[in-house]
Amino acid sequence: MSLHVLDHPLLQHKLSIIRDKNTSVKEFRELISEIATLMCYEATRDLPVEVCEVETPVSTAKVRKIAGKKLAVVPILRAGLGMVDGILTLVPSAKVGHIGLYRDPDTLEPVEYYCKLPKDIADREVYIVDPMLATGGSATAAIQFIKNYGCQHIKLMCIISAPEGISRVQTDHPDVDIFVASVDEKLNSHGYIVPGLGDAGDRIFGTK
Ligand code: PRP
Ligand code: URA
Repeated sequence: MSLHVLDHPLLQHKLSIIRDKNTSVKEFRELISEIATLMCYEATRDLPVEVCEVETPVSTAKVRKIAGKKLAVVPILRAGLGMVDGILTLVPSAKVGHIGLYRDPDTLEPVEYYCKLPKDIADREVYIVDPMLATGGSATAAIQFIKNYGCQHIKLMCIISAPEGISRVQTDHPDVDIFVASVDEKLNSHGYIVPGLGDAGDRIFGTK
């Protein structure tokens, strides 16, 4: 499938503010949510629609409605939580699953600590969300969990990515569409994205 780098000016402007180390926790959290809304608008562009009719006060109009596609949003805890409300703003009927993963600071490998998904997840189009795609270990593991439940239609939405993470997901899960607002330069020796924005979870929840 494909990589979509979303370069809408509003998105890029908001990205410039969250990258700034002086941005407050409150503003950072609000902007992550707004960026998620804008990214969701683009990532849902290919939802199928069906033509039907409604009576306006004047006449009959042929209209297009989303053709009953069921969606699920699955944030990777913790930082992915910051994107959920922004997506539900546009898709309020989506179900929400949670996958808890943290990156072991020494090995950089993802460690699972929680998983709770909607019962009918296999019938849904799933949007896995996480602000950061660094080595790609967490995203790859999350996609595999979801696939193990029988899901066939998965999209990955991350705000900032590193080339290494993109390659990893494309290699491990070539069937998954990836949406990002930026592909940054590289990872540093601690697995942080350069220039990136630091630790997204800490900046959303004010834990550092
Ligand atoms: C961050 C981020 C991703 C992961 C990306 O989470 O939110 O989940 O790292 O790194 P990777 O692509 O190398 O796997 P972290 O492990 O810091 O946990 P947190 O969200 O609880 O802070
Ligand atoms: N996780 C983050 O929160 N930031 C990075 O730069 C890499 C992984």
